[in-house]
Amino acid sequence: MEPKSGVNFKIMAEVKKIAVIAGDGIGPEVVGEAIKVLKKTEELFGYKFELEHGLFGGIAIDEKGTPLPQETLDICQRADAVLLGAVGGPKWDNNSKELRPETGLLGIRKALGLFSNIRPAVVFDCLKDASTLKPEVLEGTDLIVVRELTGGIYFGEKFRREGAGGQEAVDTCVYNVQEIERIVRQGFEIAQKRRKKLASVDKANVLETSRLWRETVNKIAPEYPDVELEHVLVDNCAMQLLRRPSSFDVIVTENMFGDILSDEAAMLTGSIGMLSSASLGEGSFGLYEPVHGSAPDIAGQGISNPIATILSVALMFQLTFGYAEAAEVIERAVKQVLDAGHRTGDIAVDKSQAIGTTAMGDLIVAAMVR
Ligand code: IPM
Ligand code: MG
Repeated sequence: MEPKSGVNFKIMAEVKKIAVIAGDGIGPEVVGEAIKVLKKTEELFGYKFELEHGLFGGIAIDEKGTPLPQETLDICQRADAVLLGAVGGPKWDNNSKELRPETGLLGIRKALGLFSNIRPAVVFDCLKDASTLKPEVLEGTDLIVVRELTGGIYFGEKFRREGAGGQEAVDTCVYNVQEIERIVRQGFEIAQKRRKKLASVDKANVLETSRLWRETVNKIAPEYPDVELEHVLVDNCAMQLLRRPSSFDVIVTENMFGDILSDEAAMLTGSIGMLSSASLGEGSFGLYEPVHGSAPDIAGQGISNPIATILSVALMFQLTFGYAEAAEVIERAVKQVLDAGHRTGDIAVDKSQAIGTTAMGDLIVAAMVR
């Protein structure tokens, strides 16, 4: 039984190590608010978090000459979970491949074995009108994209060569059965805990990797008889997401299709500033980050929305630490603050009433009660 008083519990609480990599742009601002939320849960529940900060992305390029310094990787590897802000910005956009923040992102996924990327797209009731889609189309939309994250065309061999028509560029897409199986199983398992519907997305009418994908899905599907499975071609899926978003529960797909569809799904909700994501490997370790990017255009102004990063902490509590009650406390606090009408600029109807990043963080912390 959990003791009522946080004081006793504090002595017994296991220290959880969290690697914090704030990154670029609005990353440090939104991560700052998420840390306040972490501290508040220490107070409320007697948890103990040890935070270790690391440089990552553009700032790491500037200070260490590489987007993913070994030191940062070490910090992540000895942590139980990673909290990531965002990386990238125009300053590094024209850099060579090795000196791009995106290369660091792909590197960290691969090095930490994070093969599964989970991106929920939920329409928050109080923000229904923020979407570009009609509210009646969106009604009830609550889906998760499960994206394979360490394989496919992102990680296949890439090269240039001279061809008959001049220079040629080649990107190869490779998937093996084991890689497909582990991500598809995750899709099935997540679906089992939700509405028990799985859409497996591929391009099996054209691509060999997709044909292997579909065969593999069909082979393991009988192990999950309670889940209703549909195969959807990726182009059709892009269309159905706009036509009938609420009919999707879990979508599982390969790396690049998942990259594209998860952006589409996030935009359906009209509130990309609210969406959190998890990247998982084997075991409980996970990397948590907002779906939105580094938003260099508004960085440093104190107007960014910290909610996606704060909700990433809730997701970390659920998926890595098993702190379900604390996760609920965070989610409830966010809802309460939104229901009371508080908005940052990105989700405000009346922009003149918008509040800033720290004000939003403070309101959420103040609303956190057990
Ligand atoms: C994402 C991003 C990355 C990706 C980029 C920045 C490399 O778009 O996390 O979805 O394509 O995976
Ligand atoms: Mg993307």
